[in-house]
This record gives sequence, structure tokens and C-alpha cells, in this order.
Amino acid sequence: MNREVPTVPPRPLLVGMIAVLLAAPAAAKPPVYATPAEKAFVDALMAKMTVEEKLGQLNQPAGVGNNTGPAAMTGNEDQIRKGEIGTYLGTQGAVLTCRLQRIAVEQSRLGIPLMFGYDVIHGHRTVFPVPLGESASFDPVEVQHAARVAAIEASAHGIHWTYAPMVDIARDPRWGRVVEGAGEDPYLGSVLAAARVRGFQGDDLRKPDAVLATAKHFVAYGAAEGGRDYDVADISERTLHEVYLPPFKAAVDAGAQSIMAAFNEIAGVPMHAHRPLIEDLLRKEWGWDGLLVSDYTGVMELMPHGVAADRKQAGALGLRAGVDVDMVSQIYVKDLPAEVKAGRVPMAQVDASVRRVLNAKYRLGLFENPYRSCTDDGAHERAMTLTPQHRADARRMAQKSLVLLENDNDVLPLSKSVRTLAVIGPLADHRRAMLGNWAVAGREEDAVTPIEGLKAALGDGTRLVIAKGADIDSQDTSGFAQAVAAAKQADAVVMFLGEHPDMSAEANNRTSLDLPGVQEQLALAVAATGKPVVAVLLNGRPLSIGGLKGKVPAILEAWFPGVEGGHAITDVLFGDVNPSAKLPVTFPHNVGQVPIYYAHKNTGRPPSEQEKYTSKYLDVPWTPLYAFGHGLSYTTFRYDAPVVAKKTLAPSALQQQVSVRVTNTGKREGVEVVQLYVRDDVATVTRPVKQLRGFQRVSLAPGESKTVTFDLGFEDLAMYDDRMQRVVEPGTFTVYVGGSSDRTREVAFEVTAQ
Ligand code: GLC
Repeated sequence: MNREVPTVPPRPLLVGMIAVLLAAPAAAKPPVYATPAEKAFVDALMAKMTVEEKLGQLNQPAGVGNNTGPAAMTGNEDQIRKGEIGTYLGTQGAVLTCRLQRIAVEQSRLGIPLMFGYDVIHGHRTVFPVPLGESASFDPVEVQHAARVAAIEASAHGIHWTYAPMVDIARDPRWGRVVEGAGEDPYLGSVLAAARVRGFQGDDLRKPDAVLATAKHFVAYGAAEGGRDYDVADISERTLHEVYLPPFKAAVDAGAQSIMAAFNEIAGVPMHAHRPLIEDLLRKEWGWDGLLVSDYTGVMELMPHGVAADRKQAGALGLRAGVDVDMVSQIYVKDLPAEVKAGRVPMAQVDASVRRVLNAKYRLGLFENPYRSCTDDGAHERAMTLTPQHRADARRMAQKSLVLLENDNDVLPLSKSVRTLAVIGPLADHRRAMLGNWAVAGREEDAVTPIEGLKAALGDGTRLVIAKGADIDSQDTSGFAQAVAAAKQADAVVMFLGEHPDMSAEANNRTSLDLPGVQEQLALAVAATGKPVVAVLLNGRPLSIGGLKGKVPAILEAWFPGVEGGHAITDVLFGDVNPSAKLPVTFPHNVGQVPIYYAHKNTGRPPSEQEKYTSKYLDVPWTPLYAFGHGLSYTTFRYDAPVVAKKTLAPSALQQQVSVRVTNTGKREGVEVVQLYVRDDVATVTRPVKQLRGFQRVSLAPGESKTVTFDLGFEDLAMYDDRMQRVVEPGTFTVYVGGSSDRTREVAFEVTAQ
């Protein structure tokens, strides 16, 4: 299958192999950027540098005007002149970055150029759907292109380095940052991590529109206890290797030049001091030679973590672990010179990190062309920003991100000849909800709201009756009457419900997954009018919207859809676009089910209606409200039984082909995301009941059939045995194919012992 999904290579052999087990084939290696010319250049430069200048290269002050954390210690121009700043966070704009660059290159002793980092998470000024929404497209090509557009714009604004993609697997929707990643699945997360890295970095780092990608946050940040950002992640080595590491390995193998350390600890060791995972796994075992940047004051936070008594000890631990760049706390540059000179911090550790910073600048071509994006009047920046093509790209990505959750009685698509349309809800004209929370350079005025999208599509032919009905998060129901009245006079109703963009993303965690405030009650009051009602959700996490099911006939999940969100939602509501997206994350019935995800274990007592003493609840079903991979279309698809090329595989020939015939049984063209899952039925360790191992977007005309084929190999069948060896064990495997993880057809085959 599209082998973007490498895994962590085998652990060092602890004991002799078991005869029938198969070790992993040589794992994919990251592309090599290091060259003899780079080494010679950097060696010569480092030979001239003082201790202070070396530690200055490891210093990254907060930006001019953009601080995404608690304590900003912004650097100043004198520090640049003294060589005490190597990179900048959150400083952008061609004119400003050029001015600072000229100071570094022309007024410092060695003229080492600055590297400007910025949070370009899902677009720069042309804001795309939030990453969770983009991921719902299951379209790596589109996702890669979105990152490419972001890089073109960001680089024109003087940015060299983005702190994206966020590749944290998230299985706890209380955690606000679920919005920033690719959801719950390591396979989907890995494919999209690689796509985003390729998009940001392009095909040549030395091109002016390339930006360094940063896979973040290393690692298991999404496993925070209680869904509380920054909290403890206490997970097994197996879970770490099977769930949280694969997207980082995929990013590394795609050539990611940077990784950001996570705020959390894992089993007692804070990631900013985690030598085993940074030095031993990332650098030695994976062979990654990129730049590891701390998160915002992450080095300083080793003190509240309780593993450092003071700043200098925190700095020494960070450097020893291989954290190359100190974001914002300025410990490396202010507290470590004395430690290095006293021999308490090895110069070799400093040199190793300085080399990686200088390598990054060299690979971007900044030593030859430090002013690569500089046009002192900002003309290039303006020419590259929010172009019609970029907007068209954002609209297409948004169209592909919208998940049709329900469509009872085919309420959707609506007809454009509708005479009166009621538009109800607190998010119908919420401009910032189009951008989400991490659109740092995004501007509200660039966004098209749903109401604006509706007006543009319907013109004067349709009367819109607008009633907010309720706030996003208040108990005030005084607007209900007006909303119900609006619905009663309309032929159809579209409601825009959901979360405020500041209810997800960093430090925005919720203990409830319900629609905030009285929005659910508002929806039910409007639905009680009996009119055709559509609910469009604008939110940053799975929501427990079971109360709408069966009452509101059509539900469209729109996430935070970007600057073109209003148009994209309208395109789908009126059928100009047939929705094709699928859920990249499970929607629970309620927060009490969390964690709940499709790739769960069977346990010794799998849930059963007939058996009381099995793994389930008294008050809600054991299944989710909406499963991973769920998403409807305006047409329907039929899956024939899948077929395998070989009923048995010899261990020495683990190539398998699975084919399935899919038919469009409806009346209009549609795209189906055909999903393939694998289960290792019996193994020496317990295995998930399903694991995504392939997906393909297939376009079918009405009545058309296509046979979709998936190739399976070692990595698709492999697991970590009880010694953490990557192996394929003999036995039967079941393959599931379908349009959702909970709606599949299956076929089995066997791997023989010999
Ligand atoms: C924040 C985030 C990180 C971001 C960094 C710089 O705290 O954790 O994702 O890239 O600071 O803004």
C-alpha cells in the first residue's frame, strides 16, 4: 500500500530471533542533505566562533508582536549585533525581517544570517481549514498542496521555518489540540505528516519558497492525562511505538528538517530532557540529523517539572538531551556561557547543536542569499498573498473537508430555488470561526462567513431570514422565539452551531463535548417546527451531538473551514459539490466514553448484548456516536466482497493484493474514500481489532463500478512482539474494506509458518 507509513525500525536485538518470525526489512532512510561542502563550510565558521557566539546561535527570542506562550522575553537589535540571537520566533513581514537580517549580516562580527520561524499551521494569510478538517479529506495530494501554498506565502513574508506539521495522535477530544493534527490514527497521521513535510519544504530547500518543516510535538503530547494540555503522558513502550512515534518517523523519512520537543513528560522524563528518545532514538537509531527546537520556554519548564533546581541546570539538561534551540527562555545564551567555560557543560554538546543550526541555515541557502525574500517595499510579499489561485485552493480543500454526518430523507442538497431560507445560530456570521485558533497571521477580514457564502450563491432570488437564536456559550434562551419564528416562515432552515475558535487548540481543553450553551436546545426548538433543518457544525473537536440525531435530519461537520469556508459550505449545501470527507477521529456519545477509538483491543470480555459481564456501559452504547472513517455522500456506494490474490502467504513472500469492486448505486457522481483495515487475528501479543492500512479516493459516475486494489506488505502485517521486535507472525489475518471503520466487508488469508 502507499508506503508512506514507515515504522520505527526494530529495537537492537535483545535475544536470538524466533525461527518463524521475520525481522523488519531495512526501514526507509531519511533523504540525506548533509554534504562535504556543508561540513567544510560549517567547520570553518565554527572555528571562528566564541562560546558566546555559539550559544547565541541556540537562542530564539519571542517575536516582535507574536507571543504564543506565557512569558515573552523578546530579543532586541543589540543582541543581534552581538551574535546572541540565532533564530527568531514569530517575527514576520518582508520589510521587518529584512531589516533585522541586514543587522545580523552587516553589523555582527561574523555576519551569520538569522532564521525566522513562525507558526504557519494551516496556511499563512490564505488560511486553509484547520488540520483536523484537512485530514478529513483523506487526500494527501490536496493536503500537500495546501502546505505548499502556505510555504509560498510564508516565505514571501520573510519566514524560513514553520512550526508545522503538528503530528500528535489525539485520542482524547477533551484535549484542545486535537484540532491541530490528523486525528486518532497513526497510519492516516503518518501519510499526512509526510505530505505536509513535502509541501512545506518543496523539492529543493534552497528555493526561496521553501520553508523548513517541523514535526511536533515530540512525543506523545496527545496522551496528556485528562485531556489537560501539558499534563503527564504515562504510556507503554508498545503504545509509544505503535501509536505516537510513527507519524514522526514518517515526517523524518519525508525529510523533515526540524522537530519540536513536547511540553509533557513520558513516564517521569520530561521530553525537553529526554536523552533516550532524542539522542538514542531520533538521532542514532533513526539517523536523523535535523534541528530539534524546544517548545515555548520548554527548557525553562524543566524547573517546574521538578528535574532542574535552577536555570543553568535546566539548560544543561536540555542541551545534554539534544534540544538544539532554546525557544524564548534565553537560558542557553544567558546562563550557559559560564557553565561551558567552567567545564560543567561539555563544549562537544554545544558544538553538536550549533552545527545543526548552521546546517539548517546552510541548507536553506541563507549564507549565500540571506535576503532571499527581501524586497524592501514588500512588493513580493503582496504579490504572493491571498491570490485568487490560493483562495481557490483553500475553497477546494474546504469542500473536501466537510463531513456529511446525517442526511435523513435526503434533505440535502438544498435547492437554490428555495424562496425563503432561515439562517439561524451564533456562528452564521462568525468571521473568526472560519479561521480557527492557530491562524496566527490570518485576518478576520479575509474570511468569507457562511451568511456571505449564502448571499453570494443565492443572490436576490432567495429571501434570507436571519436569527441568531442564542450565543455560543450562554444560558440565555431569549432568542429562541425569534429563531423559531424565522424557521416557521421559511421553506428550509440552515443552522450554524458549534464552538468558539478559542475553545480548541492550545490550552483550550473542555471537560464536556456537548454543544456549548443552549445551542442543542435551540436546534431542537427549531427542528420541532417540522421544517427541513440542516445543522452545520463549526468546531475544533468531536462533539457529542447525539441529541440532534433523529431530530435534525441533516448534519454537516465543517470544522473551522478557512478563509473560503462560507463559499465551501454553500457549495456543499446546494449540491455544487458532493461531500466526500470522512471522520479522522471518533465522535463519542458523551465524554464519559473517552478514550474511545476504532483501533481498540478486543479484551478478554468483548462487549455483548447477551452477556452482562462484558466490557460496556449501563447508560450508553459501547459503540461511538460516529465512527472513525464515517462520512456520507449525496449518492450511495455498494461494496462487493473483497478478494485476496493469495489465500496463503509464505513468510518469505509477504506481498498480498486485496481487490474490491465498488459501485455507485445512486443518481449522481461521487467520490468514495475506500478504506482498508487489517487485523492480526491471533498473535503472541494482543492486537487491535482493526488498523487502517490503506485508503483511496475513488470517483464514480452513477452506476459506474471500479475495482480498487490495495498492496499489502511486511509493514502492513507487522507488529512488535513481546521483546519489541518488529515481526510478522504466522497465522490468519482478516482484511476489512469499506466506507467507514464500522461498515466493512471482510476476507481472510493466512501467513504460513514456513
Ligand atoms: C506554543 C506551541 C507550539 C508553537 C510554539 C511557538 O506553545 O506549543 O506548537 O509552535 O509555542 O509559538
